[in-house]
Amino acid sequence: MPDSGQDATPFVDALLAYSALDPGRFQVPGHKGGAGADPAMVELIGEAGLRNDIPSVTEGVDIGPEPTPFQQAQLLAAQAWGAARTWFLMNGASQGNHTACLALAHGGNRVVVQRNVHSSIIDGLVLSGMRPTFVAPELDPELGIAHGLTPESLAAGIDATPDAVAAMVVSPTYFGACADVAALAEVAHGRGVPLVVDEAWGAHLHFSPQLPTDALASGADLVTSSTHKIVGSLTQAAMLHLGTGGRIDAAVVDRCVSLVETTSPSGLLTGSLDAARRQAAVHGAELLAETLTAVAATREAIAQIPGLAVLDEAMVGQPGIAGWDPLRLSIDVRETGSTGYRLAKTIFYSHGIDLELYSENVVVAIFGLGEPAVRAGERLVSALREAVGELVAEPGPPQAKLAPPPPWGELVLTPREAFLGPQEVIPFDSAAGRIAAEGLAAYPPGIPNVLPGERLSAETLDYIRESVAHGGYVRGGSDRELKTLRVAR
Ligand SMILES: Cc1ncc(COP(=O)(O)O)c(C=O)c1O
Repeated sequence: MPDSGQDATPFVDALLAYSALDPGRFQVPGHKGGAGADPAMVELIGEAGLRNDIPSVTEGVDIGPEPTPFQQAQLLAAQAWGAARTWFLMNGASQGNHTACLALAHGGNRVVVQRNVHSSIIDGLVLSGMRPTFVAPELDPELGIAHGLTPESLAAGIDATPDAVAAMVVSPTYFGACADVAALAEVAHGRGVPLVVDEAWGAHLHFSPQLPTDALASGADLVTSSTHKIVGSLTQAAMLHLGTGGRIDAAVVDRCVSLVETTSPSGLLTGSLDAARRQAAVHGAELLAETLTAVAATREAIAQIPGLAVLDEAMVGQPGIAGWDPLRLSIDVRETGSTGYRLAKTIFYSHGIDLELYSENVVVAIFGLGEPAVRAGERLVSALREAVGELVAEPGPPQAKLAPPPPWGELVLTPREAFLGPQEVIPFDSAAGRIAAEGLAAYPPGIPNVLPGERLSAETLDYIRESVAHGGYVRGGSDRELKTLRVAR
């Protein structure tokens, strides 16, 4: 590793140096640095973007004298986040979760999994064939949202699974609640298994002492990080970090990363990770301090709007919540008499404000690590004030509240057995009692209600129907209209 500090961007520099040479391009991509691109593509990506859309296996970029700029960029990222090794991912944190499941399956086929993990972990279970023991997160029935796992629940899950090879948890949640990852790591390690943390929403945590401690610093062994979410690489570009505890074999992870990655990684996505890493490592503390100040002012102003309340650090100490990430500005809308769905639609169509997430009771606005958050916060507050006023003036037809989701069904087959085994398509309305062959997650918030291998109950099917009637949509089913379901034969 050359003596380059965190203010270097070796991969970006290599791309720029390559395109500055104006080489004869007789390799892919076929737009040839933009020369052969449709004008719409030039308009969309820009000339510089197309010039620097350089493929892999390029001398001086990712091949040639080692460490190559690509290797240097990954090393700098590992140093920045405090990892033993870091892989750049071209298919989002989803790829990190697929990789984690495949890597763990090298050690055995039982794993303990937090039940409200993102669907990419469930897909990873389908790919790897592992049999999960699910552990329930803490639920807030009033708000209708789930928090993290408690160390006690994790301990019980691992104790009930003597041949488990790992535990997989998620922190922070969509809403900003951070679990006590240090305690979860202690529980897992004390029982001889590594802890995998889906920290998709926490790539920024490492860079500010004002934020909850990140998963790697808390002792996690493998951490999925959706760098594009709050740190701001290009959409899709993410990272997988290996912890320093030596509990997971880097060579196995390396092989599994390749198994689920394109053989043509985008230079632009990789370069965006290199640049985002520099911004976070060099300026993150200062930028986050500014953003946090702006978010604090925004939260105060929102709390003054009649009917709105902000979820915040006051929730820390509830089971499953050991810290709070303020960059998720989660707003409880119940006192407006309306729903998060209606507020989100009104604020989008009438005020041009796009929120990250909305559910029955809560809407979530996201702030990025380096954005000018004062202006963004002011815009959000004034739009919320007007939108809530409109909703109060025109409350619309009364809507029955969506009940909390019912308990999930018994796991009869592994997700892989159900997903790949003999199956049939039957009417949605007659699926109660059958074993699902596909997952269903009502969005928002996208937490799976049904997983492949679980027995379907009438209550769960009703909940999914209701959720759609309340303005949500459902992901995972092969029939987007939900008239039919795939079940095990
Ligand atoms: C907790 C969690 N994990 C993983 C993912 C997948 O991330 P990506 O979209 O980068 O693939 C998401 C996406 O929303 C998520 O919320």
